[in-house]
Amino acid sequence: MAQHQCLPVTNRKSLRNRAVNQVKKMGIRRREFITMGALGTLGAFALKSCGNSSIPNTPANNETPTQVFRSENGLLEIDLTAQYSDLVLAEQPFPQMMTYNGQIPAPRLEVNAGDRLIIHFKNDLDQATNLHFHGLHLSPDQDNVFLKIAPGQSHTYELDIHPQQRAGTHWYHPHLHGSVAEQLFRGLAGIIVVRGALDEIPEIAVAQEEFFLLQDFASPDANSRHMNLMAGREGSLRLVNGSYHPSIEVTEDLLRLRLVNASPSRFYHLEIKGQKLVQISNDGGALSQPIEIDKLLLTPGQRAELLIHTADLPDIPIHLLNLPYKRTQMGMMGNQTPQTIEAIADFKRAAKDFDVVYLPETLQPIEQLPEPQQTRQFTLNHGMVKGQGMAFLINGESYSGAVQTEVTLDTVEDWEIKNMGTMDHPFHIHTNKFQIISRNGIPEEMIVWHDTVLVKVGETIKIRMKFEHFTGETVYHCHILDHEDLGMMGKLKISAPTAAIFG
Ligand code: C2O
Ligand code: CU
Ligand code: CU
Repeated sequence: MAQHQCLPVTNRKSLRNRAVNQVKKMGIRRREFITMGALGTLGAFALKSCGNSSIPNTPANNETPTQVFRSENGLLEIDLTAQYSDLVLAEQPFPQMMTYNGQIPAPRLEVNAGDRLIIHFKNDLDQATNLHFHGLHLSPDQDNVFLKIAPGQSHTYELDIHPQQRAGTHWYHPHLHGSVAEQLFRGLAGIIVVRGALDEIPEIAVAQEEFFLLQDFASPDANSRHMNLMAGREGSLRLVNGSYHPSIEVTEDLLRLRLVNASPSRFYHLEIKGQKLVQISNDGGALSQPIEIDKLLLTPGQRAELLIHTADLPDIPIHLLNLPYKRTQMGMMGNQTPQTIEAIADFKRAAKDFDVVYLPETLQPIEQLPEPQQTRQFTLNHGMVKGQGMAFLINGESYSGAVQTEVTLDTVEDWEIKNMGTMDHPFHIHTNKFQIISRNGIPEEMIVWHDTVLVKVGETIKIRMKFEHFTGETVYHCHILDHEDLGMMGKLKISAPTAAIFG
C-alpha cells in the first residue's frame, strides 16, 4: 500500500529517543494519563485511513482571528450579543449560525483570580438562551443556568472570579435545558482563561501559547433531522477556532496547546504520531507535575493543556491527528459518524534556530481532600418514560426541575457514579471541582482536580468533592448535550448547615 505524506518518517526515532531522555531527566512517571480511554482496541485502526481525502495537502486556512478581551485593574466589562450570523466556514456558506458578537470563534475572555467580570449580555436570537461559565467556581446566583433570557431581552452577568480560582482553561456556553445541544451545535461557545500561577512558571511563560476551541458542525445542506440525538449529534465538519485544518507556525521550542472540547457530543482522541505529548493541565487547572502521554482523550466539556517539544520537529508539517473512539455500544444507538483518522491541524516549524527549553519538573501542588462525611450513589441510564418517550436518566429520573440531591455547605462527599447504559457519559458538576478516588474500585494514582469525568459503559467512578463557599441551586449532568437536554441532569441544592450556632 502506498503510504502517503501525512506522517513524516524522518527523525521519528530520534524524536522518540529525545522525548524519552527528556522525560527521564525530568523524572516524569511513564504512565498513561488517566483520561485516556480504551486505547488497546484502537491499535488496529492506526495506519488505515491516514492517506484518505480527509487530510488535504493544502489546508484551507480561512481563520477569523479570535477577539480577545483581557481584564485590567481587576475588571473586565464587555458587551456580548447572541445573534444570527451568515458565515463562511471551510469555504462553505453557513447561513444563520448562532454567534457571540457575530463570529466563530467567539471572543476569548482573560481574567485573573479575584477579578470582576461584567457581561452585558443581549439575546438577539429568536429563542431563549442564557450563559454558563464552565469551570469557574462561582456562586450559583451569579452562574445561574436556570435563567431564561427571552428573545430581545438583555441581562447583565456580574461575576466575582473567586480569589482561589486556579489558573486554567475554561469556557462559556448556553445552558438552557432543552436547547443546549442545538445552540452549541450552531456555534455558541467561547473560551475563558484564568491567568495565574501556572502561567508564571518560567518554562511555561516562554512557551508559544495556542488555544484550540474544538467545535463540529453539520453541513448546511445536510438534513439535520437525520441527526442521531440518542447517541448525541455529531457534525461532519470539525473546526479549530472556526477554521478548517489550520496550519500553525511554530516559533518556539515549547508549544503550549490549550484545548477545549466545545462540541456537543464528539469526543476528540488526539495524537501526534511519534511524538510524546506532555500534559500539564486539565479541567481543574494545573496538574501537580507534567505527565507524558501518547494520546489524549478529550470528552465534551473537558479541557487539557499540552506541552510539545518542537525543536526536533522536521520542517514539514506535523499533523495533530484525531483517532477513532467508540463511545457507544453496537446496535441501534451506535450510529456515530464514520470512524477514521483525520488531521485537525498542522504544525510547521519556522525557519530559525530554536533554544531548547526544558520542561518544568513540578507545576502546582494539589492537596488531597479529607475523608467524606457522606457517600451517595448515582446511576446513569436511558429508558422509556411515560408520556415522554426515550429519556436519559440519573437514578431513574429524568430532569424535572425539582431538587434531586441536597448537600451541606463545607462538607465532603463521595459520589459513586455508575454507568448502566450502552453509551459513555462524561459527567459534569457545576460550582465545585472534584477529585477522582477510584475507577471500578481501583484507586486513582494521581490526585487531579476535575469538573468533568468520563464514565464509560459499565464503569463505576468514585469522586470526592467539597461544597465550598457557596450555597444555592446548581446542576450536574452528562456533557453529551443531547443527553442533558433529554433529561440526564440533576439539580443539586447546597444548603448552609441547619444547626449553625450563633451567639
Ligand atoms: Cu459545560 Cu453544565 O456545562
Ligand atoms: Cu459547567
Ligand atoms: Cu451521556
